Amino acid sequence: MTRTRQLTPWVLTLALIAVALPLGLSNGLRADEDSPIAKEMEAINSNYKQLRRAARTKNFPDDTPKMLQEMQMATLKGMHMEVPLVKKMAASKQTEEMVAFKKMLKKQLVTLIDMEIAYMEGRVDDLAEGVSELGSIKSDGHDRFTED
Ligand code: HEM
Repeated sequence: MTRTRQLTPWVLTLALIAVALPLGLSNGLRADEDSPIAKEMEAINSNYKQLRRAARTKNFPDDTPKMLQEMQMATLKGMHMEVPLVKKMAASKQTEEMVAFKKMLKKQLVTLIDMEIAYMEGRVDDLAEGVSELGSIKSDGHDRFTED
């Protein structure tokens, strides 16, 4: 057997590892940043940033209702998703934690609906107040349910 023939199975094995490793990493080992809940949060966040900017001048753009509706839908979707941190807790704690999680997102959903109505009724101060309420709901939620 030539030296090249002896080396071929090793080269193939190394090539297979080189292809399989990144696939394995993207399929779960890296987990949290790609969790379904994180994706909904990204949708909430991009709208939240715009609304926070608008709240400074109390000059809300025409697509404010659209932003609030997107945030409402992402909040409702997120409410029914797994929370990576809760999954790591003892099984006996998980129901209690998920109840607290759903209560916080329910509060967020109601706030977002109230903000949409405030916009429709031209109550700009209430709308700006809603933006700061979202800020405190967010920090309560992240204190309890994220690891950063
Ligand atoms: C205006 C409100 C909120 C904003 C703008 C917001 C924003 C974000 C952002 C930017 C992330 C990171 C996403 C990523 O990793 O790509 C995130 C993750 C997350 N947020 Fe929020 N959030 C809000 C409210 C909440 C609330 C109220 C809760 C809980 C009741 C919550 C729970 C979580 C969880 C569980 C994650 C994922 C953590 C993980 O992957 O382990 N968030 N959020």
